[in-house]
Order: sequence, then structure tokens, then C-alpha cells
Amino acid sequence: MIYYPLTTLMLAGVREVLVITTPHEQAGFQALLGDGSQWGVELQYAVQHVPNGLAQAFVIGADFVAGQPSALVLGDNIFFGHGLVDQLQRAAARASSESGGATVFGYRVSDPERYGVAEVDAAGKVLSIEEKPARPRSNYAVTGLYFYDTQVVDIAANLAPSARGEYEITDVNAEYLRRGQLHMELLGRGYAWLDTGTYDSLLEAGSFVHTLQKRQGLQVASPDEIAFRAGWITAQQLAANAEPMAKNPYGQYLQRLAAEGPAG
Ligand code: G1P
Repeated sequence: MIYYPLTTLMLAGVREVLVITTPHEQAGFQALLGDGSQWGVELQYAVQHVPNGLAQAFVIGADFVAGQPSALVLGDNIFFGHGLVDQLQRAAARASSESGGATVFGYRVSDPERYGVAEVDAAGKVLSIEEKPARPRSNYAVTGLYFYDTQVVDIAANLAPSARGEYEITDVNAEYLRRGQLHMELLGRGYAWLDTGTYDSLLEAGSFVHTLQKRQGLQVASPDEIAFRAGWITAQQLAANAEPMAKNPYGQYLQRLAAEGPAG
């Protein structure tokens, strides 16, 4: 499950990623993901010392972002669906276009009060966005995946903490809405948006992925496969990635892929 945030960004075409973790988790992530060169991407690491809000990512990552468009994905969010890559690439293109702005992704849920909630009109225009409202104005949760133009670092740096004492990503999005620059892509009913932040939700997500993988014989969210199909790594690199895992089904899957080629 740990690869999802990274692979979501890779599918959007993002190749430079800053992994922000708690201080004690950093070494584990570094050991698992390395510098990214095995997948043709560049990974750097930073620490959030106090969990005081998602918007802090852009304060911690200001130098990393370095005046470029950027995206943020939360470590416990899983996205799956046939049209996802197109929607990701559209959001990424918008962030770097001349008109810029921010893009969030809306998903219908039965319990919107647990999330950021967006109210949209019939044309899909965002009318309001609120963090965990007691009385949600819609069933559309704002998922943990965001694309921003170059304004985001300044907006995040100038936020005041919310009532729960956090620098809220919803306040960043609300500022884009105020500027008339907030876009929402709806992830329709053919998508899965799952979170893995509780034992129950982790188990449910695991069982969803297990069902798909077993039925299709295709891996969901393999950074090795995504990098190979994107042409970011060669068949030789893929085979080298597979080698230490040659005795398990994942390594064997990658070896098959390396032999078949990226179009297979
Ligand atoms: C955060 C955001 C919320 C968003 C959610 C998605 O909530 O604040 O707007 O809907 O992620 O997972 P948190 O996980 O901090 O409760």
C-alpha cells in the first residue's frame, strides 16, 4: 500500500518527489524507496516534526518546489479507475498552463462529514469548500490529491491555523476558490477512492486490490511496471529490480514483463 501515493504521481507524469514523513518513519521510507533512480524518478526526503497540517507540506517543501507547479498526495489515499491517468494528466497540464489554478478531485461518499466537502453546481463549478463540516452541503468529498500552480507556496505560508489547530489544505483550496481558480475533477462511480488510515479501511483496500490482481493477473500500482511502460527505465533495469525478488510472485511478474516488453 505504501507505493500508492508515489505511483499516483508517476501516472500524472511527475518525476521529482519529496517524501515528507514523521521523524521516526523517515529511515524506513528511505530504505524502501531509495533515491528513485531504479524507477527513473528522483526522490528526496523531508521531515514534518509536528503533525500540524497538510498545508505545511508547501512550507517544508518550498525550496524543493522552487517556483514550479506541484502536486500533493496523501500517503493513505488510494485511487483506482480506468480514466484516472487522463484526469491526472489534465490536472497536471492545467497546473503548468498559463491560466494555472488548482485542481482537486471530488468523490461521492456516504460519510462526507469525515472529509473536506465541495459543493458544486450542475456545470461542475465549485461553489464552496469546507473541512469536515457538521452539516455537509453535498456528498462530494475532496480527496487527498491536489495539483497547484506556482501560487501555492505563498498561499500556504500565509495561512492561519484552523479551529483544530492545523494548517488546512482546505484553506489553501478555499483561497484558490476565492481567486476564481479552483477546479474540480469528479471521479465518477466507476472509480475507487479508498483510504487506509484505519485498520478497517486498510483491510478493505487490501481486499479490493487482492481481488483485482488475482482476477486479472496484473499488478495494481507497481512503480516498476509504471516506470517501464512509461519508458523511464529499460528492460535491463526492470530485470535488475526484479532480481532480488525473483523467488516471490512480484519479482516473477516483473521478470515476465521485462521479457515481454513495455507494450505487452
Ligand atoms: C485530509 C484533508 C481532507 C481530505 C482528506 C482526504 O483529512 O484535510 O480535506 O478530505 O484528507 O483523505 P485528514 O486526513 O487530515 O483528516
